[in-house]
Amino acid sequence: MSELASIGRVAVIGAGTMGNGIAQVCAQAGYTVAVCDVSEAVVAKAKAAVAGSLERMVAKAKLTGEQRDATLARLAWGVPLEAAVGDADVVIEAVPERMDLKLDTFRRIDAAAPAHALLGSNTSSLSITEIASALRDPTRLVGMHFFNPVPVMELLEIVRGLRTSDAHIERAQALAKRIGKTSIVVRDVAGFATSRLGVILGVEAMRMVESGVASAEDIDRAMELGYRHPMGPLKLTDLVGLDVRLAILDHLHRELGEQFRPPALLRQMVRAGKLGKKSGEGFYVWTDEKK
Ligand code: 3HC
Repeated sequence: MSELASIGRVAVIGAGTMGNGIAQVCAQAGYTVAVCDVSEAVVAKAKAAVAGSLERMVAKAKLTGEQRDATLARLAWGVPLEAAVGDADVVIEAVPERMDLKLDTFRRIDAAAPAHALLGSNTSSLSITEIASALRDPTRLVGMHFFNPVPVMELLEIVRGLRTSDAHIERAQALAKRIGKTSIVVRDVAGFATSRLGVILGVEAMRMVESGVASAEDIDRAMELGYRHPMGPLKLTDLVGLDVRLAILDHLHRELGEQFRPPALLRQMVRAGKLGKKSGEGFYVWTDEKK
């Protein structure tokens, strides 16, 4: 049996938008998945989101009813961290984008996970090398950057920290393949390849709204119809979460310079609780998944 085929158990730490999508695709691929979160409300929401997504796939005949049921049966929700990672072959962390939180989480994972487990961090922009400093063996941490909505988006951006070993990069590539994603491998620089490019478009769009160049709707329409983007940069910011975008921008601004300075408008909207789709309002008002 290949090493990959012997991987059976995945622990996902953090059940927010990304965590629940990661848990879903792993369970769909046949892994037994334990999901951990500090909030029961987040776990309940995650469980409903996965059920909804699988239902949608059944309705589109992308999945059979049996496959949906088998996927749901492979998911255990609200498992405490130590229990979730204790017998895991792969641990994927998807907690909010704060270095202190990631370091604390990985210290706990390090103490409880088996020595053979592959460790992944779903960060949009933070340093994998720095996160790995929480581990006794930093060679086994790999950046695993997923995209929202995880069940639909094809890419997995794999990030090689300064001390990540080739063997662990290969294990992450094999994992990507098994869960149906195409992977790329990038060096550990702030924002990697995707966030650095994706965020710069979003930030410019916000500056254009701020200075009255055009409405959010028209700016989005321009990129959707003129450039064939599936979704304009402001709608996408609503999907990703304004708080998430702000955290990424604050980090990229510190690391890469002025072009990433967060617009005042974004900071104000986050302060006002306008976080995008998940809070019901961002650059658009959202009701029941629809703009
Ligand atoms: N689960 C399962 N299926 C889903 C789904 C979900 N959560 N969301 C959408 N789908 C399926 C739909 O059922 C539909 O299937 P079909 O092709 O068989 O009809 C298909 O995806 C397209 O969905 P819709 O018809 O509802 O709507 P759209 O055609 O507008 O597509 C979208 C929605 C896939 C979100 C598309 O607009 C898109 O690709 N947007 C850009 C997303 C993007 O750029 N994501 C990256 C964000 S950056 C990021 O995540 C990085 C992080 O670090 C912040």
